[in-house]
Amino acid sequence: MKILLAYDSLSGNTKAVAEEIERLLQEQDHEVTTFRVSPSANYPLDKAYDLYMLGAWTVDYGRTPTDMKDFIAELEMKPKHVALFGTGETQWGIENFCGAVDRMSQYFKSDYPTLKIEQMPHRKEDYEAIYQFVQQVLEKRGGVK
Ligand SMILES: Cc1cc2nc3c(=O)[nH]c(=O)nc-3n(C[C@H](O)[C@H](O)[C@H](O)COP(=O)(O)O)c2cc1C
Repeated sequence: MKILLAYDSLSGNTKAVAEEIERLLQEQDHEVTTFRVSPSANYPLDKAYDLYMLGAWTVDYGRTPTDMKDFIAELEMKPKHVALFGTGETQWGIENFCGAVDRMSQYFKSDYPTLKIEQMPHRKEDYEAIYQFVQQVLEKRGGVK
């Protein structure tokens, strides 16, 4: 499958999750286009993707960071197959934890599973959660090997 994997990461936590997702997807021979969103980027949106995987950190009590919002605004139509992931911190309130993931998921009306990781993935459980997320998303999209 052709998969677009775009992420917003200020200090590297979401980048680490995205890189692990990319590794798992490539391991299953998917064609992955990965990039970090940024205001100056020229996004490769001229072709269609079978699946979109978007990840972001969370800012300002449960909100989606600006660069990811700007990227989403550049998508001409809401893609049908969008899986959301992100990192956050429970110390901002459990109701705001990884709020960007919930907001993006609602925006896209996505029925794919979501992934929320506390800060930098480092525990065995984090990597297991990332693996399960990727497998479940691929199974739903019909792309599991
Ligand atoms: C100004 C600011 C506001 C934040 N607000 C939240 C929040 O509402 N919810 C949350 O889960 N995390 C919040 N965080 C924590 C970050 O989302 C978290 O550290 C994340 O893992 C950073 O990801 P990154 O390293 O990819 O930038 C906030 C961090 C900053 C700096």
